[in-house]
Amino acid sequence: MSKEETKTGRSQFVTKIGVIAATVGSAVGLGNIWRFPYEVGTHGGGAFLICYLFFIIAIGVPLLCAESAVGRRSRSNVVDAYRKLSGSNKWKPMGYLAVLTAIVILGFYCVVSGWTMEYMYQSVAGNLHYSSQPEYAAMFSKFIGSDIRPIVWTLIFLAINFRILIKGVEKGIEKMSNIMMPLLFLILIAFCINSLMMPGAQEGLKFMFTPDFSKITPAVLLSALGQAFFSLSIGMGCVLTYGSYFSDSTNLPKTAGIIAVCDTLVAILAGLMIFPAVFTFGGTPAAGPTLVFEVLPAIFNHLPLGSLWASLFFLLLFIASLTSSISMFEIGIAFFTEKFKIRRIVATSIITGITAILAVFCSLSFGSMSTFTIFGKNMFDLSDYVSSNIFMPIGGLGIAIFTGWVVNKQFLKNQLSNNGSHHFAGENLIIFSLRFLSPAAIVLIFLNSLGII
Ligand code: PHE
Repeated sequence: MSKEETKTGRSQFVTKIGVIAATVGSAVGLGNIWRFPYEVGTHGGGAFLICYLFFIIAIGVPLLCAESAVGRRSRSNVVDAYRKLSGSNKWKPMGYLAVLTAIVILGFYCVVSGWTMEYMYQSVAGNLHYSSQPEYAAMFSKFIGSDIRPIVWTLIFLAINFRILIKGVEKGIEKMSNIMMPLLFLILIAFCINSLMMPGAQEGLKFMFTPDFSKITPAVLLSALGQAFFSLSIGMGCVLTYGSYFSDSTNLPKTAGIIAVCDTLVAILAGLMIFPAVFTFGGTPAAGPTLVFEVLPAIFNHLPLGSLWASLFFLLLFIASLTSSISMFEIGIAFFTEKFKIRRIVATSIITGITAILAVFCSLSFGSMSTFTIFGKNMFDLSDYVSSNIFMPIGGLGIAIFTGWVVNKQFLKNQLSNNGSHHFAGENLIIFSLRFLSPAAIVLIFLNSLGII
């Protein structure tokens, strides 16, 4: 991040584009290209998409505003932010939950990033050539089931994060992502056009855009809510931490809008690229977390210069996941360094160490620990499910209640309009969502999916 020290000794983003690059960089990642298609695929296609879009607009955007407002006003890490603005320690557990959520997500996120690196390597080596989709699926399950190899990639990914985080070379990352993210966007468009010309395009589009309302169950609603939180990086202090580096002139609602639009576009493009191919090559949309890795190589293989396209795509996906993982690490690092007054390198080492242990277990979930389950889920699925469908919605509920009811009423108005320096027409809608709609929706969906109501 192009941050610079302010009078108070805290970093701040220097440029407007720095704010957008970092927050969009955090939002756009594996959540859009890996998780979104598999969630749409397992939860009934169009029905899931409609719920997802509704949650992004009605809950996601207001929460983006609320989190960045709390971060900027408090200029603190996630735990102290709650304490500073409420003047009491009662809200601190919400901050601790956020730090925990970040680490749980990192545990499986780094594993999937490792998969991306393996595929980058295999495409550069020109090894991703099979003749049918089941062969790609078999190759992938052999790889993730092989224990050591995926763990090595995961650890390499963690080492790269570690180096970036301690050296403070985020500037380099930011510059790189300024070029790579638009490139990812362009290449996605090109792949979509290619997919839309495949024989299975119509079926793919039908699956993604024709909602079968009978498929909207409490579980689908909860997953769509969880995906909206995961994809926008909300409900776990990430936007709050980045918000604490925003300048006083950053336009919060506008920034929230840009994040939501970019993030949703990338997710939809990923779906448009994957589903026509799924129906063309005879895969199943409900394959789960392995879906994208089974389908993508088949798409590239059908293109002239396939290995080149594949290498470029996996490189861009790797960069996208790196900008997201760095934002997750930043939550814990900001907290540990400010709270315990330890050096950045120590904080980074502690968090990377904990993440590495968790990641090894998540990775082994597809190999020798595949039979080890808790509540019927292996460690990977459990971390994925618990973070998105439980921790993040609770975090989001906390932020909504905190900004809607606990801090004084003027707080949001001042933050949304930069103390009245610009007029924002949707102010009352955002406040309405934070006070009533978001808390009610989150609580209802929760209770409903637990079978309580
Ligand atoms: N939003 C990121 C993605 O889509 C993941 C993420 C979640 C990043 C939570 C930060 C915080 O890949």
